[in-house]
Amino acid sequence: LPLNGKKVLITAGPTKEKIDPVRYVTNHSSGKMGYALAEEAVKMGADVVLVSGADNTEVPAGVTFLKIESAEDMYNEVMKYYPQVDVVIKSAAVADYKPSLVYDKKVKKQDGNLMIEFERTKDILQELGKNKDRQFLVGFAAETNDLEKYALQKLERKNLDMIVGNNILEAGAGFSGDTNIVTIFHKDKSVKKLPLLSKHETAKEILGEIILKMGDD
Ligand code: PMT
Repeated sequence: LPLNGKKVLITAGPTKEKIDPVRYVTNHSSGKMGYALAEEAVKMGADVVLVSGADNTEVPAGVTFLKIESAEDMYNEVMKYYPQVDVVIKSAAVADYKPSLVYDKKVKKQDGNLMIEFERTKDILQELGKNKDRQFLVGFAAETNDLEKYALQKLERKNLDMIVGNNILEAGAGFSGDTNIVTIFHKDKSVKKLPLLSKHETAKEILGEIILKMGDD
């Protein structure tokens, strides 16, 4: 099998950033894209670690599964496994901001508006890019406009080998559904635009591109 003997780390799903014991900030990621990648990678022979913020989808058989909540948790798990893996695919939708202060008691209703200050989370992918030695690093870019421009900026800035761009406003693409429409950008400037496919077919194509390009190194 093409991924025999390869260790693949995949992140999936949303993160949840706590405000207080009752409330949190999150996004629409279901984890389906990442879980499809994990399942297809196992079928191709890989040893898969799945770090996931989603917990409502059945975990594919044969993967090492780690459930996390926050971007910070995801950062810690990913960094722990990073030195031992050959490929990282970051399909998770990680929060860019978290509340600066987490209340330990429920925030009570009060007159007027409630202001919450947010601070930046760590950019996990950027850290991976900085510390890359032999790993093949794959990011995702979820955009609403100028997909190619932003995807290529992320590829460069985060020192990636490949980035999978999806326009989350396009019908049939992005969050929650069973299909996606992605364009794959490689660091060697080659581009592969895929049509509307199931997330499983999309995952197979993404893994196929990784296998093709890993062989070039
Ligand atoms: O889960 P589904 O419902 O199936 O939906 C799939 C998806 C839309 C979530 C997926 O296809 C997708 O686009 N995932 C990336 C979502 C995202 O957060 O994109 P971004 O452009 O904001 O981030 C760029 C990259 O940096 C991503 O690989 C992300 O994992 C990574 N990142 C972002 C912020 C951060 N603090 N750390 C990161 O590692």
